[in-house]
Amino acid sequence: MPFAPGDAKKGANLFKTRCAQCHTVEKDGGNKIGPALYGLFGRKTGAVENYAYTDANKQAGVTWDEETLFKYLENPKAYIPGTKMAFGGLKKEKDRNDLITYLKQSTA
Ligand code: HEC
Repeated sequence: MPFAPGDAKKGANLFKTRCAQCHTVEKDGGNKIGPALYGLFGRKTGAVENYAYTDANKQAGVTWDEETLFKYLENPKAYIPGTKMAFGGLKKEKDRNDLITYLKQSTA
């Protein structure tokens, strides 16, 4: 199943509990343990200039959009082998749809 638009409010809650300890979404939110996600959609992997990515993430050659995030967030370590992102993945399609719907709004 590909991405389908979900519930941005539920996505915001998922972001808060599953991603926010390592990532920011707002403009000038900056890097934490992970790179800033502001401007994520349409950007290539590893493009935040002042963030120390792994070579795996930098060289993945993926453009982030709804479909690539939908696959990546199910199992980041399978999608980008060698990534240092310590996150097991969101297995439920609905959770990924909700989160990506939120991300699209909050990172633009
Ligand atoms: C424990 C910290 C941690 C958590 C939790 C986490 N991340 Fe990450 N994330 C990272 C790190 C570290 C990287 C950089 C990976 C690398 O360089 O190998 C990363 C990379 C990414 C990237 C690639 C960015 C780019 O510019 O290429 C995306 C997208 C991302 N994370 C989204 C998320 C989302 C959405 C969540 C919540 C579902 C999440 N992350 C949860 C630490 C985390």
